[in-house]
Amino acid sequence: MKNIVILISGSGSNMAAIVGAARRDDWAGSLGARVVAVISNRAGAGGLALASEQGVATHVLEHRAFATREAFDAALTALIERYDSPTGSALVVLAGFMRILGPVFVNRYAGRLLNIHPSLLPAFAGLHTHERALAAGCKFVGATVHQVTAELDHGPILAQAVVPVLPADTAQTLAARVLTQEHLIYPRAIAELLQKQ
Ligand code: GAR
Repeated sequence: MKNIVILISGSGSNMAAIVGAARRDDWAGSLGARVVAVISNRAGAGGLALASEQGVATHVLEHRAFATREAFDAALTALIERYDSPTGSALVVLAGFMRILGPVFVNRYAGRLLNIHPSLLPAFAGLHTHERALAAGCKFVGATVHQVTAELDHGPILAQAVVPVLPADTAQTLAARVLTQEHLIYPRAIAELLQKQ
Protein backbone atom coordinates (compact mmCIF):
# COMPACT_ATOMS: atom_id res chain seq x y z
CA MET A 1 0.00 0.00 0.00
CA LYS A 2 1.30 3.42 -1.03
CA ASN A 3 1.77 6.26 1.46
CA ILE A 4 0.30 9.69 0.75
CA VAL A 5 1.56 12.89 2.37
CA ILE A 6 -0.78 15.88 2.00
CA LEU A 7 0.39 19.50 2.16
CA ILE A 8 -2.12 22.16 3.21
CA SER A 9 -2.27 25.84 4.18
CA GLY A 10 -5.93 26.32 5.09
CA SER A 11 -9.23 24.62 5.81
CA GLY A 12 -8.20 21.24 4.43
CA SER A 13 -11.51 20.15 2.93
CA ASN A 14 -9.79 18.50 -0.05
CA MET A 15 -7.44 16.76 2.36
CA ALA A 16 -10.43 15.46 4.35
CA ALA A 17 -12.07 14.19 1.14
CA ILE A 18 -8.90 12.25 0.26
CA VAL A 19 -8.54 10.84 3.78
CA GLY A 20 -12.18 9.74 3.61
CA ALA A 21 -11.80 8.15 0.19
CA ALA A 22 -8.69 6.25 1.30
CA ARG A 23 -10.61 4.79 4.24
CA ARG A 24 -13.88 3.85 2.56
CA ASP A 25 -13.97 0.29 1.23
CA ASP A 26 -17.11 1.05 -0.74
CA TRP A 27 -15.62 4.03 -2.55
CA ALA A 28 -15.71 3.43 -6.28
CA GLY A 29 -12.07 3.13 -7.33
CA SER A 30 -10.69 2.69 -3.81
CA LEU A 31 -7.37 4.50 -3.46
CA GLY A 32 -5.23 1.53 -2.44
CA ALA A 33 -3.19 4.01 -0.42
CA ARG A 34 -3.28 5.60 3.00
CA VAL A 35 -2.78 9.19 4.09
CA VAL A 36 0.08 8.98 6.59
CA ALA A 37 0.75 12.64 7.27
CA VAL A 38 -0.57 16.16 6.77
CA ILE A 39 1.91 19.02 6.73
CA SER A 40 0.91 22.68 6.95
CA ASN A 41 3.07 25.73 6.37
CA ARG A 42 0.69 27.69 8.63
CA ALA A 43 0.16 26.85 12.30
CA GLY A 44 -3.39 28.23 12.14
CA ALA A 45 -4.57 26.03 9.28
CA GLY A 46 -8.01 24.63 10.14
CA GLY A 47 -7.18 21.40 8.33
CA LEU A 48 -4.71 20.40 11.03
CA ALA A 49 -7.50 19.77 13.54
CA LEU A 50 -9.52 17.88 10.91
CA ALA A 51 -6.53 15.61 10.21
CA SER A 52 -5.90 14.99 13.91
CA GLU A 53 -9.55 14.07 14.42
CA GLN A 54 -9.06 11.43 11.72
CA GLY A 55 -5.96 10.08 13.49
CA VAL A 56 -3.57 11.32 10.80
CA ALA A 57 -0.14 12.59 11.92
CA THR A 58 0.22 16.36 11.52
CA HIS A 59 3.24 18.63 11.25
CA VAL A 60 3.63 22.39 11.05
CA LEU A 61 6.55 23.70 9.06
CA GLU A 62 6.26 27.48 9.04
CA HIS A 63 7.87 28.84 5.89
CA ARG A 64 8.54 32.12 7.69
CA ALA A 65 10.99 30.33 9.97
CA PHE A 66 13.32 29.77 6.99
CA ALA A 67 15.58 32.39 5.44
CA THR A 68 15.16 31.13 1.88
CA ARG A 69 12.70 29.15 -0.23
CA GLU A 70 15.42 26.53 -0.76
CA ALA A 71 15.92 26.05 3.00
CA PHE A 72 12.15 25.61 3.51
CA ASP A 73 11.93 23.16 0.61
CA ALA A 74 14.88 21.15 2.00
CA ALA A 75 13.25 20.89 5.44
CA LEU A 76 9.98 19.86 3.79
CA THR A 77 11.79 17.15 1.80
CA ALA A 78 13.38 15.77 4.98
CA LEU A 79 9.98 15.64 6.68
CA ILE A 80 8.24 13.97 3.76
CA GLU A 81 10.96 11.36 3.44
CA ARG A 82 10.20 10.11 6.92
CA TYR A 83 7.06 8.71 5.30
CA ASP A 84 8.71 6.76 2.51
CA SER A 85 7.92 3.07 2.99
CA PRO A 86 9.17 -0.30 1.75
CA THR A 87 6.43 -0.03 -0.91
CA GLY A 88 8.16 3.05 -2.30
CA SER A 89 8.31 6.80 -2.01
CA ALA A 90 5.27 8.66 -0.80
CA LEU A 91 2.88 10.41 -3.16
CA VAL A 92 2.88 14.13 -2.33
CA VAL A 93 -0.51 15.81 -2.69
CA LEU A 94 -0.91 19.60 -2.56
CA ALA A 95 -4.39 20.44 -1.27
CA GLY A 96 -4.78 24.18 -0.87
CA PHE A 97 -1.04 24.51 -0.24
CA MET A 98 -0.45 28.21 -0.96
CA ARG A 99 3.31 28.21 -1.16
CA ILE A 100 5.37 28.04 -4.33
CA LEU A 101 7.81 25.12 -4.32
CA GLY A 102 11.20 25.58 -5.98
CA PRO A 103 12.51 23.63 -8.98
CA VAL A 104 14.79 21.35 -6.92
CA PHE A 105 11.81 20.19 -4.85
CA VAL A 106 9.53 19.86 -7.88
CA ASN A 107 12.10 17.85 -9.87
CA ARG A 108 12.75 15.54 -6.95
CA TYR A 109 9.06 14.62 -6.77
CA ALA A 110 8.42 14.57 -10.52
CA GLY A 111 5.58 12.18 -11.34
CA ARG A 112 4.45 11.87 -7.72
CA LEU A 113 3.56 15.49 -6.91
CA LEU A 114 -0.05 16.56 -7.56
CA ASN A 115 -1.97 19.80 -7.16
CA ILE A 116 -5.56 20.96 -7.39
CA HIS A 117 -6.32 24.40 -8.76
CA PRO A 118 -9.74 26.12 -8.70
CA SER A 119 -9.97 26.91 -12.41
CA LEU A 120 -10.09 25.16 -15.76
CA LEU A 121 -6.36 25.33 -16.45
CA PRO A 122 -4.68 26.65 -18.50
CA ALA A 123 -7.18 29.47 -17.86
CA PHE A 124 -6.69 31.50 -14.69
CA ALA A 125 -3.45 30.19 -13.25
CA GLY A 126 -2.48 32.01 -10.05
CA LEU A 127 -4.65 33.64 -7.40
CA HIS A 128 -8.23 35.02 -7.29
CA THR A 129 -9.45 32.63 -9.97
CA HIS A 130 -13.19 33.04 -9.31
CA GLU A 131 -13.06 36.86 -9.22
CA ARG A 132 -11.16 36.85 -12.51
CA ALA A 133 -13.54 34.36 -14.15
CA LEU A 134 -16.56 36.47 -13.13
CA ALA A 135 -14.89 39.67 -14.37
CA ALA A 136 -14.18 37.95 -17.70
CA GLY A 137 -17.84 36.94 -18.03
CA CYS A 138 -17.14 33.19 -18.07
CA LYS A 139 -20.25 31.02 -18.26
CA PHE A 140 -18.41 27.95 -16.99
CA VAL A 141 -15.60 27.60 -14.47
CA GLY A 142 -14.18 24.56 -12.70
CA ALA A 143 -11.22 22.85 -11.11
CA THR A 144 -8.16 20.98 -12.36
CA VAL A 145 -6.01 18.23 -10.86
CA HIS A 146 -2.56 18.24 -12.44
CA GLN A 147 0.96 16.99 -12.06
CA VAL A 148 3.21 19.70 -10.68
CA THR A 149 6.04 21.04 -12.82
CA ALA A 150 8.41 23.93 -12.19
CA GLU A 151 6.01 26.37 -13.90
CA LEU A 152 3.24 27.53 -11.54
CA ASP A 153 -0.17 25.87 -12.17
CA HIS A 154 1.07 24.05 -15.26
CA GLY A 155 1.87 20.39 -15.80
CA PRO A 156 -0.05 17.47 -17.27
CA ILE A 157 -3.77 17.59 -16.50
CA LEU A 158 -5.16 14.49 -14.75
CA ALA A 159 -8.79 15.55 -14.18
CA GLN A 160 -11.13 18.49 -14.54
CA ALA A 161 -14.65 19.33 -13.40
CA VAL A 162 -16.81 21.93 -15.13
CA VAL A 163 -19.21 24.08 -13.10
CA PRO A 164 -21.78 26.51 -14.58
CA VAL A 165 -21.76 30.15 -13.51
CA LEU A 166 -25.24 31.23 -12.32
CA PRO A 167 -26.51 34.82 -12.75
CA ALA A 168 -26.40 35.63 -9.03
CA ASP A 169 -22.99 34.10 -8.41
CA THR A 170 -20.33 35.86 -6.38
CA ALA A 171 -16.75 34.69 -6.06
CA GLN A 172 -17.76 33.07 -2.76
CA THR A 173 -20.76 31.12 -4.06
CA LEU A 174 -18.75 30.01 -7.08
CA ALA A 175 -15.81 28.92 -4.92
CA ALA A 176 -18.14 26.85 -2.73
CA ARG A 177 -19.77 25.15 -5.74
CA VAL A 178 -16.40 24.42 -7.36
CA LEU A 179 -15.07 23.05 -4.06
CA THR A 180 -17.78 20.36 -3.92
CA GLN A 181 -16.53 19.15 -7.31
CA GLU A 182 -12.90 19.30 -6.19
CA HIS A 183 -13.76 16.82 -3.43
CA LEU A 184 -14.96 14.36 -6.08
CA ILE A 185 -12.24 14.68 -8.72
CA TYR A 186 -9.18 14.78 -6.46
CA PRO A 187 -9.56 11.32 -4.85
CA ARG A 188 -10.57 9.87 -8.23
CA ALA A 189 -7.53 11.34 -9.99
CA ILE A 190 -5.24 9.98 -7.25
CA ALA A 191 -6.81 6.53 -7.57
CA GLU A 192 -6.34 6.55 -11.35
CA LEU A 193 -2.70 7.64 -11.04
CA LEU A 194 -1.94 4.95 -8.45
CA GLN A 195 -3.57 2.26 -10.57
CA LYS A 196 -1.18 3.12 -13.39
CA GLN A 197 1.94 2.92 -11.19
C1 GAR B 1 -9.25 24.84 -3.01
O1 GAR B 1 -10.26 25.50 -3.70
C2 GAR B 1 -8.04 24.63 -3.91
O2 GAR B 1 -8.39 24.36 -5.23
C3 GAR B 1 -7.35 25.96 -3.79
O3 GAR B 1 -7.48 26.32 -2.44
C4 GAR B 1 -8.68 25.74 -1.91
C5 GAR B 1 -8.29 24.95 -0.68
O4 GAR B 1 -9.43 24.50 0.00
N1 GAR B 1 -6.00 25.87 -4.20
C6 GAR B 1 -5.35 26.87 -4.79
O5 GAR B 1 -5.84 27.96 -5.00
C7 GAR B 1 -3.93 26.56 -5.19
N2 GAR B 1 -3.44 27.49 -6.13
P1 GAR B 1 -9.28 23.36 1.11
O6 GAR B 1 -8.16 23.81 2.06
O7 GAR B 1 -10.61 23.39 1.82
O8 GAR B 1 -8.99 22.07 0.44
